[in-house]
Amino acid sequence: MTTSVPLNRKDLFLGACRGETLPRLPVWLMRQAGRYLPEYRAIRRDHAFLEVCKTPDLAVEVSLQPFRRLGVDAVIVFSDILIPAEAMGLKLELGDAGPNLPEPVRSKRDVLKLKLFDPEIETAFLPEAIRRISREVGPAVPVLGFAAAPWTLACYMVEGRTKEGFATVKSFLLSEPSTFRDLLHRIAEAAIPYLRAQIAAGAAAVQLFDTWCGELSLRDYEEFALPAVQEIISSLASANPETPVIYYTKASHHLLPALARSGASVLSVDWRVEMRSLREKLGPRIAIQGNVDPAVLFGPPEEIRRATLEAMAALGGTGHILNLGHGILQHTPVENAQLFIQTGQQPLSQEPVGVGFAPPARAGHGSGS
Ligand code: CP3
Repeated sequence: MTTSVPLNRKDLFLGACRGETLPRLPVWLMRQAGRYLPEYRAIRRDHAFLEVCKTPDLAVEVSLQPFRRLGVDAVIVFSDILIPAEAMGLKLELGDAGPNLPEPVRSKRDVLKLKLFDPEIETAFLPEAIRRISREVGPAVPVLGFAAAPWTLACYMVEGRTKEGFATVKSFLLSEPSTFRDLLHRIAEAAIPYLRAQIAAGAAAVQLFDTWCGELSLRDYEEFALPAVQEIISSLASANPETPVIYYTKASHHLLPALARSGASVLSVDWRVEMRSLREKLGPRIAIQGNVDPAVLFGPPEEIRRATLEAMAALGGTGHILNLGHGILQHTPVENAQLFIQTGQQPLSQEPVGVGFAPPARAGHGSGS
């Protein structure tokens, strides 16, 4: 066996999703295209946020900016989790004050009005952007698609503007449980063709963002949010069994191990979760993405290096995609993001002694080299 053929970025990424032990970790950043990059701000000076999302030339350009600037191992298409809300018939504004849906979903009638849509028509700009990005980066770099998980999109659809506490969406769930289930089911039904279109356009993996699932009790998560996530993942698995689904959750400790029943190949967790014990709880079948605190990128270089090396060591290079625990923050210094990526891409066997890294004794693992 020769060991000289280096794995390309897509091999690394998909290998990590399959739970393989790799010579180095694939690494990217949630929200990697964004305002911390001067070249993104330059585009936003001339174009509104939704215009960038809906204009493939612009969406491709900003999707590629972090790839060029940081050398990340995956390119996530530039879009927003709220795009399908608009395609389902809701008005959407994304201004400086954050997202606003001025005609929120508050009744059974509102739920019934939500329409399913053809992603190649109503959101044609998104698969088109993925096709163009895939052409630009070539087959060795994974392109990622995404959608909101139903509960998280429902939070925006019902609240209109997100507020801490989510009283409106929770009272909807409690007072009209069957209508609320219909809403989640409707969102799942729309998300399935939306994600399939992204996969058909070239996405090597897709991520479901469930940013607000930690707001739910375990009971309500299992009763409401989880079945809608399972519906999406099992439906994708039947048509695209080779395409991993990454499931992002935040502040979701209390939901384990229900999260593991989602069917996702990869569970993406924030910095509150200790990844080593998570692996012990979940077993090796589910890969893990995460989980450095985005605020660490405001620290001095030695702290950034330490936190990154610790995260890299946590799983011994097995079934691990290195990432932040949530999106990169707006005022992050670019050189600190670079340091995170460069550190994260170091070969695992060459970690300096003293950071607690023990290279796995196993070799091989079907890496194909
Ligand atoms: O990761 C990437 O680079 C792809 C692009 C991406 C954006 N939003 C672009 C964006 C992705 C994957 C998202 C997901 C998203 N959007 C989530 C889930 C992840 C998370 O951060 O929790 C959520 C909750 C949203 C909804 C949303 N969009 C909010 C709350 C905001 C306002 C807050 C903010 O950061 O301004 C947005 C706007 C948004 N989406 C921006 C970007 C780059 C900033 C808009 C701008 O350029 O002014």
